[in-house]
Amino acid sequence: MSEPLLDIRVERKSFGATTVLTHVHLALQPREAVSLLGPSGCGKSTLLRIVAGLENDYQGELLQGAGEVAFVFQEPRLMPWLTVEQNIGFSDDGGYDRAWVAQLIDEVGLSGFGQALPKALSGGMAQRVAIARGLYSRPQVLLLDEPFSAVDAFTRMKLQDLLLQLAEHHGIALLLVTHDVDEALYLSDRVLVMDNRPSSIRQELAVGLAHPRDRRDPLLARLKALALTELQRAHVI
Ligand SMILES: Nc1ncnc2c1ncn2[C@@H]1O[C@H](COP(=O)(O)OP(=O)(O)O)[C@@H](O)[C@H]1O
Ligand SMILES: [Mg+2]
Repeated sequence: MSEPLLDIRVERKSFGATTVLTHVHLALQPREAVSLLGPSGCGKSTLLRIVAGLENDYQGELLQGAGEVAFVFQEPRLMPWLTVEQNIGFSDDGGYDRAWVAQLIDEVGLSGFGQALPKALSGGMAQRVAIARGLYSRPQVLLLDEPFSAVDAFTRMKLQDLLLQLAEHHGIALLLVTHDVDEALYLSDRVLVMDNRPSSIRQELAVGLAHPRDRRDPLLARLKALALTELQRAHVI
């Protein structure tokens, strides 16, 4: 195996008297896609913040940092007064790389919308902008926190396929939080099932299927049954 992009052990992460995470070991290989599946409040977002270096107050060991990371959240969090183009290049003060922004707009399927304001976009289009903004900084890892929870089921499938294409094309790793078992299995090389607080990783499911995948693949259905059983055992569902 190659050098991991990220290798972190969180022995304990607490907020005050509440222990949220305990004995979580997370490693990510280059170009790997990993999903975190678990109940609300179990510490998934906290774990992403730790990986991003935004949360340093924990007991544990960072063996290998994630390098350049970018976030995509459930809400696109666009600046309403900026155009699509400006929202994507916003990370720079003032000037931004227009050619790179134009390429990203193209890649996320929004050609012709560079000068549009966020209010002119559908939810799915706004989330495409958020993904392009994430890619702008050329991250090695894209951290996605329930990125498609607010869009309808069909739009969601299209965004999942777009995300896979972009990750492949740009050679980046994905670390994704979702409550959707199908989404986790369809997108990921590994799915980590977490339990209730204080949380650790209960089960790791390896999805040994090449891309592009077929959503109807019987292996995905079998893995879904395993994941649901584990979520039930953990009293998540
Ligand atoms: N900054 C914070 N201060 C205090 N408690 C927090 C803070 N951030 C998260 N928590 C608590 O930690 C737990 C895990 O939160 P979070 O990581 O957001 O869970 P998840 O994303 O799995 O729903 C929750 O009980 C939450 O209330
Ligand atoms: Mg969360």
